[in-house]
Amino acid sequence: MTTIDTENSENIPLPQHVAIIMDGNGRWAQLQGKGRVAGHRAGVESVRACVSGARELGVKALTLFAFSSENWLRPQDEVNVLMDLFMFVLTREVKKLHKNNIRFQLIGDKSRFSKKLQQKIVDAEQLTKNNDAMVLSVAANYGGRWDISQATQKIAQLAVDGDINVADIDEHMLNNHINLSHLPDLDLLIRTGGDYRISNFLLWQAAYAEFFFTEMLWPDFNKSAFIDALAMYSNRERRFGKTGEQVKAK
Ligand code: IPE
Ligand code: IPE
Ligand code: MG
Repeated sequence: MTTIDTENSENIPLPQHVAIIMDGNGRWAQLQGKGRVAGHRAGVESVRACVSGARELGVKALTLFAFSSENWLRPQDEVNVLMDLFMFVLTREVKKLHKNNIRFQLIGDKSRFSKKLQQKIVDAEQLTKNNDAMVLSVAANYGGRWDISQATQKIAQLAVDGDINVADIDEHMLNNHINLSHLPDLDLLIRTGGDYRISNFLLWQAAYAEFFFTEMLWPDFNKSAFIDALAMYSNRERRFGKTGEQVKAK
């Protein structure tokens, strides 16, 4: 198996922006005869491993799907545990992120979270806002369709206010109002848990991302699995519409 020497990471084409659909917590727990929430708790260790792996390798942006806009449909008990866990982890880990020069941001509709959680998020974003080694974006109450809708709403308002002409609306303008546009384009999208779908994650941003699907359940995904995914990425040929010959000639 190809491996990346973390000491010499400049030698391999490294994705600048990696996103992960962290799936399979419930099944992981059930396989162990435990309740689903045990899987969510165990999954925190995998988050830590990937954040630290990404930071060590020099990935510029890591975006994690923690809670989708559809996950509110789950049993209320599970939703409550997920919110409490988010609050707990944010409180405990933010100092460490700051110490490692990592900027934290939340993407998603924050308005549905408790006031206390919203405040924690603002505090964490504020504390880490000038950090520049890596941007960690956590997607919570996030949906790709919501993201495109909220951008459309902002642009429509600009047009109504007379600040732009309708004819000026193009993909660059839309892109500028979509989350993560200030970061490098999404290079690699990983999904654990064995399903082959995007589940309303980064619909716009994934336009030219490479996809990596693994059967591994999220709590089993560790630093070496993360590095393997990056090694696989380094062997992909990204053509962006061109021919393979054109890309090789470059
Ligand atoms: C992903 O694991 C975590 C969240 C969606 C919050 P799941 O809870 O979806 O685990 P499975 O897919 O049921 O195993
Ligand atoms: C996607 O997982 C959302 C997160 C990982 C946070 P789901 O488990 O909610 O996705 P579906 O419902 O199986 O598509
Ligand atoms: Mg799932």
